[in-house]
Amino acid sequence: MSGDIFDGQPSDPDQLAEIYDLEHDEVIEDHAFYRELTRRHPRAVLDLGTGSGRLLPAFVEGGAEGVVAVDGSPALLRRAKARIATDPQLARAAGDQRLSVMEGDVRRLDRAVLRRKLGGGASLVVLAGVLPHLDGPEEALRTLAGMAGMLGRSGVAIIDDIGPGLLPARDLPLSLDWRREVNGMEVVRRSQLMRREAPEGLRVVFSTIVDVGRPDGTIARLPASHRLWYPYVDALRSLFREAGLVEELAYGSHDLDPLGADSERRIMVVRRAVD
Ligand SMILES: C[S@@+](CC[C@H](N)C(=O)[O-])C[C@H]1O[C@@H](n2cnc3c(N)ncnc32)[C@H](O)[C@@H]1O
Repeated sequence: MSGDIFDGQPSDPDQLAEIYDLEHDEVIEDHAFYRELTRRHPRAVLDLGTGSGRLLPAFVEGGAEGVVAVDGSPALLRRAKARIATDPQLARAAGDQRLSVMEGDVRRLDRAVLRRKLGGGASLVVLAGVLPHLDGPEEALRTLAGMAGMLGRSGVAIIDDIGPGLLPARDLPLSLDWRREVNGMEVVRRSQLMRREAPEGLRVVFSTIVDVGRPDGTIARLPASHRLWYPYVDALRSLFREAGLVEELAYGSHDLDPLGADSERRIMVVRRAVD
């Protein structure tokens, strides 16, 4: 299976990536958290599943000496490159060879290439919002083991996802999510969610229909559907052990609240197990 989340969708990937950014780009509540982490581990940051590079400003502002950002979606990487080109501090970092983006599948990291780009092991590896896109424990284990292999001895990795408090407790029927005006066009998003509890975590099918009203009165309809997986915390912890990672801390928010059953985030800080 490809590492491109838009592969096989019945809509144009660049349009889906643009819609994705409408929802994700304005989220900055975690920037202070990632700036501070970078300050503590500045040598080489590896952002796995960077998307359109939403977190890149936090790494650069945190004083990263080098950042490599990887994603499986060419359409999102095009947006990440456009972000770098138009943001002066990111453009400067890229110009100084301190920031680069590359296409790659987090389940099959090319460690030799990444180590060369990072000048060795990473001081900080970030996997934010990516785990749910993997197919389940087997793919997660491959990804986590790859991350462990990329970590320098004193490096830390962050696995940051929606927390137990925000996971859907029931199926959600097709409903209107939002309606906005974008470049003079009305954009309407509807979505539907189906969930199933499995031993390894919550399985979700999240389907969206985005209607873009064109100036001539016609409507472009962009359907998409994603299978998502939210591992239970215990299942994730045993995957860490198998992958050669040890948990250092677990937070329930980017303000460092403890992780609990109602937490909105599930942020795990892990290190390589000592050999
Ligand atoms: C919810 S987004 C998070 C983006 C970014 N980390 C952030 O926090 O804004 C998930 C990202 O993971 C990427 N992704 C999912 N599966 C992947 C895979 N197997 N290999 C590489 N990237 C993947 C998607 O393309 C998407 O950009």
